[in-house]
Amino acid sequence: MLKATLLAFTLLTAPTLPQTAMAQATAAQASIDPLAPAGRWTGATAGRSPTPPMGWNSWNAFHTEIDEAKVMGTAKVLVDSGLRDLGYTYVNIDDGWWLKRRTSDNRMQVRTQIFPSAKIKGSETSSFRPFTDTLHSMGLKAGIYSDIGGNACSQAYDLHSPNLPEGTTAERQVGLLGHVQQDIKLYFGDWGFDYIKVDACGLNVYAPDSAVVKQYKYNGFPPLIDQTSINRTNIPAVRALYQEVADALASSNPDGDYIFSICAWGSADVRSWGKEVGNLWRTSGDITPQWTRMLHTFDSASTRALYAGPGHWNDPDMLFVGHGDFDEKHLTEAHTHFSLWAMINAPLMIGYDLRNAPPELMNIWANKDIIRLNQDSGGHQAVLAYDSDDVQIFVKTLSDSGTKGVLLFNRGLAPADVTLTPEQMKMIGDVALTDLWSKAALTLKGELKITLQPRESRVFEARGKRQLPDGFYLSEIPGALNVARDGIVAPEPDPIVHRMSNPWGATINGGERPTYTGWGGAQADATPYDQALKINGQAFLSGIGILANSRLEVRATGYTRFEAKVGIDDSTRNLKDKVVFQVFGDGRLLTEATAAYGQEAQPLKADLVDVKIVELVVRNTAQSSDLPLVVTWADAALKK
Ligand code: GLA
Repeated sequence: MLKATLLAFTLLTAPTLPQTAMAQATAAQASIDPLAPAGRWTGATAGRSPTPPMGWNSWNAFHTEIDEAKVMGTAKVLVDSGLRDLGYTYVNIDDGWWLKRRTSDNRMQVRTQIFPSAKIKGSETSSFRPFTDTLHSMGLKAGIYSDIGGNACSQAYDLHSPNLPEGTTAERQVGLLGHVQQDIKLYFGDWGFDYIKVDACGLNVYAPDSAVVKQYKYNGFPPLIDQTSINRTNIPAVRALYQEVADALASSNPDGDYIFSICAWGSADVRSWGKEVGNLWRTSGDITPQWTRMLHTFDSASTRALYAGPGHWNDPDMLFVGHGDFDEKHLTEAHTHFSLWAMINAPLMIGYDLRNAPPELMNIWANKDIIRLNQDSGGHQAVLAYDSDDVQIFVKTLSDSGTKGVLLFNRGLAPADVTLTPEQMKMIGDVALTDLWSKAALTLKGELKITLQPRESRVFEARGKRQLPDGFYLSEIPGALNVARDGIVAPEPDPIVHRMSNPWGATINGGERPTYTGWGGAQADATPYDQALKINGQAFLSGIGILANSRLEVRATGYTRFEAKVGIDDSTRNLKDKVVFQVFGDGRLLTEATAAYGQEAQPLKADLVDVKIVELVVRNTAQSSDLPLVVTWADAALKK
């Protein structure tokens, strides 16, 4: 949601916070060396999303105008068409389901007018249990929607909706704020939901003196999020509120079978911490069915491969296949949108009224080969092998002994000539390619030249000899890495996200500024600031680019050697400080090397005997400058 510009902001003063959690976190941090090896995988493992969630969500199809017939009609199509069996199991209702929060006991009430099965005969209490029971009996799972604040997005942005919460100020306060335990227990324990999406409008558009609060008599809330200014956003407070939900979910779901979707639109630095708290986190404002808005949300996730993996996924928002620029008259765009989401391990959430879907669209969601890329158990998000504003090439390692998914993508409005080489896929020699849309087979000998029409993409499965036949470069297997610390000191907006002109307003202000922080984060095959990897003049096509004072965890079971060439990257702004590169195996120091700017890349090798987790630590040994120190783990690889 980037609609915030439409409303006036009153900016944060003292935020409301779960004080104990914050105090404990600060005390724990102070007493621990943040770069000390953990000796284990510390990436979050709560919830159940070993592969990106797949299913359907009501929002892009119906906005708040949902009802039971629409949802159940959709569910039936998922089953009858075979989409469920291809993995689309979650049926998620979005904004619009609620009637009110009953004031006698604060229990949330369903709008039974539109969800009649929630009516309990002879009682004024309502329950979604019959609804979720039906979905479960169909072999599907059920998702619900809430807000992390007191009021929801529709209460500010969909004021003409027939399905807004009703009643007094307190009754209309339907979000989780102040009711986390009770609501989560109700939604998961009593009602049997399996998935929750938690929005964040309650934290940013209900400033006490705002027009919407005054006019609709909501409880005002000093905003914790300012989408246009990270310094005026209270990151720890936002994170702590989402953590409270994560904790409640864990305790209300003893079997661990749930998914937590954080919908904070790339704000509050969620692109950095989302993986610690939820199973997916929106990396951007809302998608719209417009080509360049799709580019915007895609870009916000496509450079974040190292921050995602099994159990935690970057979320560039739900699919808009079937609408606007992606409807059945624009199949080139629709194929591309779906292929892009699959390649970067985005959740595949259909946003269309499936009861009336033409076969051309059904064939897109049902492309088994494209789904297979997305659902590969390795969880390796595709990495950019070639980047420009016009053409991009993405490569995704599959767990099937190194088969690759490859996507050639023309973002622009003119035809583009694209050349694909084995090196870009980290392969050598001839490569067998299968087009995953047309199923045509071809062989790449030396290079492949293709002309892509405007907005066209081609997706191939590539089989051939890998550059490292007995292992992988770490940049090939981002799903096996956890960026425990990326060395960023102060969050900065990421400037390389396509900036579509504001889809909700006029072009009356200065323009669309970069706002999603995470710039300077760890990168596969590039530096944190999007430069090619280079140490003392020597360029590297493979490696991990990261800042000093960082720690990476790597799953290493089954490998016997770690190798890399390390050094301070030529692109660093900090030319003065020295670093030490350290390699740990299950917490034990295996090898280390110091490096200074201008020094050539040094080999680091370590035998891994029964090592489960390798940790790669870079410490600035005597910090004398505040400038970022860029380091490179060039050709970093695990070998068998
Ligand atoms: C926000 C979210 C959307 C949708 C709407 C509902 O805009 O980002 O995905 O849930 O709220 O009001």
